[in-house]
Amino acid sequence: MSVVISPSLLSADFAHLEREVAALEEAGADWLHFDVMDGQFVPNLSIGIPVLKSLRKITKLPIDVHLMVREPDHLLSAFVDAGADTLSVHAEACAHVHRSLQYIRKLGVKAGIVFNPATPTGELDYVRDLLDFVLLMSVNPGYGGQSYIGSVTAKIADVHRRFPDLPIQVDGGIKVDNVEVVARAGASNIVSGSGIFGADNYRERIAEMRRRAEAVFPTH
Ligand code: DX5
Ligand code: ZN
Repeated sequence: MSVVISPSLLSADFAHLEREVAALEEAGADWLHFDVMDGQFVPNLSIGIPVLKSLRKITKLPIDVHLMVREPDHLLSAFVDAGADTLSVHAEACAHVHRSLQYIRKLGVKAGIVFNPATPTGELDYVRDLLDFVLLMSVNPGYGGQSYIGSVTAKIADVHRRFPDLPIQVDGGIKVDNVEVVARAGASNIVSGSGIFGADNYRERIAEMRRRAEAVFPTH
């Protein structure tokens, strides 16, 4: 099983973003996780379209855009034009999440639906055919550096049991010492911000996370 490691740029040094991205590429990152916050759906602001556009020019890695934005439909095509390879939208933030996902698919990029830690995942039954992956948040979104919420482990296992072919991304509080917990439950796409940027050697940290996750991912 090959696992996707997607470092969250939220923990990068923004004064040296080009250097950080080059270091992640060199270190073997598979995707770059790009967190967009609107100050409404989540209590914080982060980065958006102009930064994405600039990054697109300096990297070939897939840019994985996590929209923590209320009613994001009017922004989706601008994110694709700016260079997004995936767009994920929150079930809690879209009044018509089926339509939002249809729209993302129509724009020709990978689509993901996101569930906060306390949100049930029943909608998956109705949008599965529109999804390339599901993102299960393992912290309440808005900040990097928070602690993993333990109840999410059972949720990952439940979604993996119901949809064995649907890639599960997990985001929030994932470090080298708990990556096995989420991978064993069925997560194959690992977002990590402080868990990677806190390392002196990104290459070793990414390799170790990958090794640990791949060793325990369920094969059945
Ligand atoms: C949280 C963001 C995450 C965050 C992860 O709102 O969606 O992507 O940057 O950071 P860590 O891995 O430090 O919890
Ligand atoms: Zn994120």
